[in-house]
Amino acid sequence: DKGTYPFYMLKEIDEQPNVMRRLAQVYLSETGAPVVNDALLASMKKADRIYIVGAGTSYHAGLVGKRLFENLTQTPTEVHISSEFAYEQPILSEKPFFIFLSQSGETADSREVLVNVNAAGHESLTITNVQNSTLSREATYTMLLHAGPEIAVASTKAYTAQIALQAILAKALGEADKQIVAQRFDIRQQLGLVATGIQAIVDEKDKIEALVKQSFLKTPNAFYIGRGLDWGVSLEAALKLKEISYVQAEGFASGELKHGTIALIEEGTPVIGIITQSKTAGLTRSNLQETMARGAKIITIVSENLAKDSDDIVLADVDELMTPLISVVPTQLLAYYTSLLKGLDVDRPRNLAKSVTVE
Ligand code: F6R
Repeated sequence: DKGTYPFYMLKEIDEQPNVMRRLAQVYLSETGAPVVNDALLASMKKADRIYIVGAGTSYHAGLVGKRLFENLTQTPTEVHISSEFAYEQPILSEKPFFIFLSQSGETADSREVLVNVNAAGHESLTITNVQNSTLSREATYTMLLHAGPEIAVASTKAYTAQIALQAILAKALGEADKQIVAQRFDIRQQLGLVATGIQAIVDEKDKIEALVKQSFLKTPNAFYIGRGLDWGVSLEAALKLKEISYVQAEGFASGELKHGTIALIEEGTPVIGIITQSKTAGLTRSNLQETMARGAKIITIVSENLAKDSDDIVLADVDELMTPLISVVPTQLLAYYTSLLKGLDVDRPRNLAKSVTVE
């Protein structure tokens, strides 16, 4: 039931602070230590490499997961698009462990990979929102997202839940392995900060609606740019805008823009910069300047500790590994308002179904 909400998507965006808190309740002990199935941890500890597999938004959540696993556990981690992995399988390490990310647990492309993984006798974990879904039943282990039903075709709270759950799992695995970075990573505090940070963004919806009115309603295209984790979020931001507002959008590694794609920038083209990583903040800012010099309309989404007075959307500070959980939210709202103000069916965009059960 969407209650007083005009569309499920907005309701699901608003639910994200609660989803973060629920994950902390379900997966952390009273002292804040992760509570994760021992057999799963033992199986992951044996692995020399983690392979994360997913489609669409779930693949994008995996891009963040890679960084979490590599930073907190020191285990090399690859992320793959399911439909590619299924038929162009990379050379596997000696002891691979597979993580399937799937909101619905029914995506045929991902299942095709799981069937092969099972046939080869490898162990796997499905992270899904749907208990007893196909991918859950067929994997060795399951962890549930507890995000509540996601009805809107465009995925929002499942993406943030997938990232938060990967953070919990990476913390658990890193700690089990006595990794100092993991021991120092206060996951309970972080999830709390994230919940508050998301809340601050959803409380500022009017500001994002105003940005949409200024720059998004007439444009045929838009660019999201960032580096590292901010690039990963840029890909998700662009997908969201494309699928519900039909604006041709691209997520780009900001340093790569000048190697060709900057030719597309015209007077008024929106270029949204996501800046949450201190190492690369200055570089992305100069890449934004390069587009502004060619007429782009710049919008910035920036963590508080890196922000300047001129920035458009300022995000509460969290650990730099966790920033995608907050920085994605304004991009969800930008997509939402663009679709809404164009009079489109936000929850049921053309040509799409909630779960894609064909390859
Ligand atoms: C985009 C979206 C899709 C799904 C993709 C995978 O908003 O919802 O890209 O993320 O079809 O679906 P699941 O996660 O159910 O496997």
